[in-house]
Amino acid sequence: MAVTSSALRGLVVALLLLAVASPLPAQETCTTSLYDAVTATDELAQLKTVIDLAGLKETFSDKSLKITVLAPNNTGFENLVSVLTSMNLTLEDTISPNNKAASILLYHGIPSPVFAKDLQNGATVSTLLGNGYNLTVNTTSGVKFVTPVNSASVVTADIKVCDSVVHIIDTVLLPAALSEIPNYVTPAAPAPQPAECTTSLYDAVSATKEFEKLKTVIDAAGLKETFSDKSLKITVLGPNNKAFDDLLAILSSMNLTLADTITPNNKAASILLYHGIPTPVLSTDLTNGTTVSTLLGADYKLTVDTTAGVKFVTPVNSASVLTADVKVCDSVVHIIDAVLLPGQLTDIPNYIPATPTASAPAPSRGVQEESVGNKLSSSMTVGFIGSAAAFIFALA
Ligand SMILES: *[C@@H]1O[C@H](CO)[C@@H](O)[C@H](O)[C@H]1NC(C)=O
Ligand SMILES: *[C@@H]1O[C@H](CO)[C@@H](O)[C@H](O)[C@H]1NC(C)=O
Ligand SMILES: *[C@@H]1O[C@H](CO)[C@@H](O)[C@H](O)[C@H]1NC(C)=O
Ligand SMILES: *[C@@H]1O[C@H](CO)[C@@H](O)[C@H](O)[C@H]1NC(C)=O
Ligand SMILES: *[C@@H]1O[C@H](CO)[C@@H](O)[C@H](O)[C@H]1NC(C)=O
Ligand SMILES: *[C@@H]1O[C@H](CO)[C@@H](O)[C@H](O)[C@H]1NC(C)=O
Repeated sequence: MAVTSSALRGLVVALLLLAVASPLPAQETCTTSLYDAVTATDELAQLKTVIDLAGLKETFSDKSLKITVLAPNNTGFENLVSVLTSMNLTLEDTISPNNKAASILLYHGIPSPVFAKDLQNGATVSTLLGNGYNLTVNTTSGVKFVTPVNSASVVTADIKVCDSVVHIIDTVLLPAALSEIPNYVTPAAPAPQPAECTTSLYDAVSATKEFEKLKTVIDAAGLKETFSDKSLKITVLGPNNKAFDDLLAILSSMNLTLADTITPNNKAASILLYHGIPTPVLSTDLTNGTTVSTLLGADYKLTVDTTAGVKFVTPVNSASVLTADVKVCDSVVHIIDAVLLPGQLTDIPNYIPATPTASAPAPSRGVQEESVGNKLSSSMTVGFIGSAAAFIFALA
């Protein structure tokens, strides 16, 4: 089912408005990662090879890094290989099985960008290897980094790579004797960061022309705050304007107005909650004949019928999905063509607002208010509501 252009337009407009309301600080776009810079520098060819072998390419390709890299030049690695060779070791032995090479590389990272002029003689700086594996600075003659087992001199200082700084050095720094260098443990994959949600369901409804009347009813029923919660992960079945016009016509034929559905017992809010499914459900997840719970409560379910398009069926009427799968942050909206009624108007539970500590509104199936109840009971039959199918509007 295609997303209508007006629904999309509405969502885009909402996002644009939000973007204008809170402009991001102007920022130069970073186009070169540390890995790119190393790759492009001839005298760092060996460093690139070792980064690749140690499996740290991705780590150094992160353009958001703000660190200092001490980059050993090719001579530095050749000297290390000579040392390894004298021990009957190869570079590969530092990678398999315990990837000490990666630990050595991380020892060449300082967790913040530091320029040469900021380095004090005798200062210690921590490294990305962590665990107290520090470097000591010595500026007696040029700038030197000193480890417990060796040292390296800065050959070229202060190369800026976006927000990071690179100093080329002449030696591979070793945090300890080879046998004592810690094994590299691949960090657990970070939990996927959810994109920050900037549009609430209420924002999306407000920005969508087809939902003008839905918005009016949400406001009138006092559910604006409920639908403004950006952390919601639900499905909303959003009746379009025509759906509310149809319902208004029915009410009108019963000498009722929207106001009668809100005062005194806010059945309108109960009806709105019947349009919420407590989890995000895409149209492709819906199977014919299944029932789904609603925010109105466990006793008020909807039945899915996928015989022709997707339809939600209640005990008294049904609505077809016109536009499926409009994503609003972690929620899903399906635009529908009728206002779903959980029962005959007289049987719709009164709305009881949630107490501040309760997480979900708890409508009761309690006593009907006399005046409205009597009016609502006049001539309402299942067939009648079922045929015209739709509610409310017009406090505004
Ligand atoms: C390296 O290997 C050679 C020949 O296999 C052997 O003679 C030498 O002692 C070894 N050196 C070390 C440091 O293990
Ligand atoms: C720096 O190194 C020189 C020798 O190169 C040494 O005399 C001096 O004590 C060192 N300075 C510090 C603070 O370690
Ligand atoms: C390493 O350096 C950090 C920051 O300078 C310091 O807080 C820490 O005590 C040092 N650790 C060791 C073992 O020297
Ligand atoms: C690395 O730096 C040292 C010290 O400046 C220099 O002698 C050597 O030629 C450099 N190696 C490369 C490949 O640039
Ligand atoms: C609605 O009100 C009109 C005039 O007040 C009345 O004639 C009509 O019978 C009423 N209809 C219903 C369904 O109550
Ligand atoms: C869907 O289920 C309804 C009963 O809920 C049934 O009448 C209809 O034939 C089913 N459609 C399909 C395509 O299976």
